[in-house]
Amino acid sequence: MKRLDQYVCVISGAATGIGRASAKRFADEGAMVLCADRDEETVQKTAQEIRDSGGEAEAYYVDVSEEESVKALTEKVKQKHARIDVLFNNAGIDRDGGKVHEYPVEAFDAIINIDLRGTFLMSKYMIPLMLDRGGSIINTSSMSGSEADFERVGYNAAKGGVNNLTKATAFDYARQGIRANAIAPGTIETPLVDKMAGTEENEGGKTFRDAQKWVTPMGRLGKPEEMASIALFLASSDSSFVTGEIITGDGGLTA
Ligand code: NAI
Repeated sequence: MKRLDQYVCVISGAATGIGRASAKRFADEGAMVLCADRDEETVQKTAQEIRDSGGEAEAYYVDVSEEESVKALTEKVKQKHARIDVLFNNAGIDRDGGKVHEYPVEAFDAIINIDLRGTFLMSKYMIPLMLDRGGSIINTSSMSGSEADFERVGYNAAKGGVNNLTKATAFDYARQGIRANAIAPGTIETPLVDKMAGTEENEGGKTFRDAQKWVTPMGRLGKPEEMASIALFLASSDSSFVTGEIITGDGGLTA
């Protein structure tokens, strides 16, 4: 018996990175994986790869920051599957942009809208599909949700919000058998890291990756598959008495 047999799992941001690795892992464990992303072409590929290797997956468009888009996705999922067991709110963006007084309002709004509001919207509309049987909500936070970074106020604010949104969700639904937890990754080797300033070699001869490897006690970046393993634990009944927790996977960085 696989760990997610008969489970219907929604994963946002499943086109690339942590979401894609989790979609594959969940499918390997027997789940029907509903891969949702605003990058329609790439998320189709994720779902196709899963089907090609014998798993069950469907691809859906969603922009998690748009209420109408989240409602439309929920309606499609309801029509086709009636219920879900796992909601993995993983879609997110990051931007560095200077100190608070320099930080672009547009970047702040974009991050809050996707990383924080998007997590709220997906939970708000998808939770009714879990109420009959219970389920597991997994939010993707970050070590930046509880620790400050230099010049990344938008991300720090959004992921800090995700942490407490997770705890509030856990409180609200604990008696109805819906658990809510978050993953707080350190620096993980995904396309998101490519978009960070300093990815190119800087004046000190260090790339963003080099710097992150250096400050991480384990001396390397994390792999998306390592975050997928945490997500699998939180999705499955292995974590049946765990709710309201933020599980860190950062190679010791915040130890
Ligand atoms: P990624 O860039 O590979 O994946 C993010 C996915 O989210 C992409 O497929 C993208 O198309 C999708 N997405 C972005 N905005 C969206 C929207 N409005 N609606 C629907 N989909 C949207 O990055 P990665 O690293 O896999 O990120 C996944 C999550 O992990 C994010 O929440 C990120 O903040 C978080 N995280 C990543 C870390 C890292 O070092 N890579 C560290 C800590 C947290």
